[in-house]
Amino acid sequence: MTSRRMPVDRDPVEPGPDRPLTILVDGEPVAGTVGQTIAGVLLAAGRREWRTTSAGGAPRGVFCGIGVCFDCLVDVNGLRDVRACLRRARDGDVVVRQGEPEVVA
Ligand code: FES
Repeated sequence: MTSRRMPVDRDPVEPGPDRPLTILVDGEPVAGTVGQTIAGVLLAAGRREWRTTSAGGAPRGVFCGIGVCFDCLVDVNGLRDVRACLRRARDGDVVVRQGEPEVVA
């Protein structure tokens, strides 16, 4: 199987020029492009994990990428438990990583 490359001028989707956006992640500006999900912005910025599990504090980021696993949860503009893989980033979004407190048995 070979990869297929299509010249931009023949792409039926007719993508326009990239439009930049900036989100704040734990107070740090992260650059992205309009149309990316929050997970897409984070991954493009080289971040692979942004949450920790309640049991053991294991790092999590994108696992399924389609809204099924809930591994990618973040707080967005004060709203908790937003799936970063589904939520399109908007310029100025304030994203806070989630870290669950350790569960004591
Ligand atoms: S990566 Fe699975 S729900 Fe977002």
